[in-house]
Amino acid sequence: MIKLIGPEKVKTAVFISGVGSNLKNLINFSSKKKSPINIKLVVSNKENAKGLKHANQSKIKKVIINFKTQKKAEKKTLYFLKKNKIELICLAGFMKILSKNFLKRFKGKIINIHPSLLPKYKGLNTHKKALENNEKFSGCTVHYVTSKLDSGKIILQKKVKIKKNDTENSLKKKILKEEHALYIKAINKIFN
Ligand code: GRF
Repeated sequence: MIKLIGPEKVKTAVFISGVGSNLKNLINFSSKKKSPINIKLVVSNKENAKGLKHANQSKIKKVIINFKTQKKAEKKTLYFLKKNKIELICLAGFMKILSKNFLKRFKGKIINIHPSLLPKYKGLNTHKKALENNEKFSGCTVHYVTSKLDSGKIILQKKVKIKKNDTENSLKKKILKEEHALYIKAINKIFN
């Protein structure tokens, strides 16, 4: 749990690499009076990440960091986080693995959304793996980020039923919808 000090919202950065539907959802949420977070910064490792348009539309500062050299990239990222007084990081489809050193600086302050019922199906292609294993359910998980991939403490999960005719794409769509609701619930949970 993260303690709120004073009436100010928690300055938050969202890290993305792609479409950014979770970013869009978090921006909407953060604009609500009752939201404990205020999104101050969007970090993308991809110059052409579609999700950057949501930062533009909402006039949220954005930085594009080339992660080719991880150490340099993290140093630069930390500089911008500090400059914007960021207190919480929400990973939302961010496709880079942050180093131990980086995580240490934001211990207990980085959360992620993952499209499976962790600890099942860490990493990529979660929907494909769930279908191949004839799972009856899949879902999504919001968890704290640690140096072990998709293994930090779970904050909340949502189960989604897999139907016989589900494809990777239909499952992805169904789960993504639930991800949006879950991320908000999880953020509310860590501040309560
Ligand atoms: C989501 O499924 C998220 O769980 C995973 O990457 C996807 C990102 O989607 N980590 P979007 O860019 O937020 O639309």
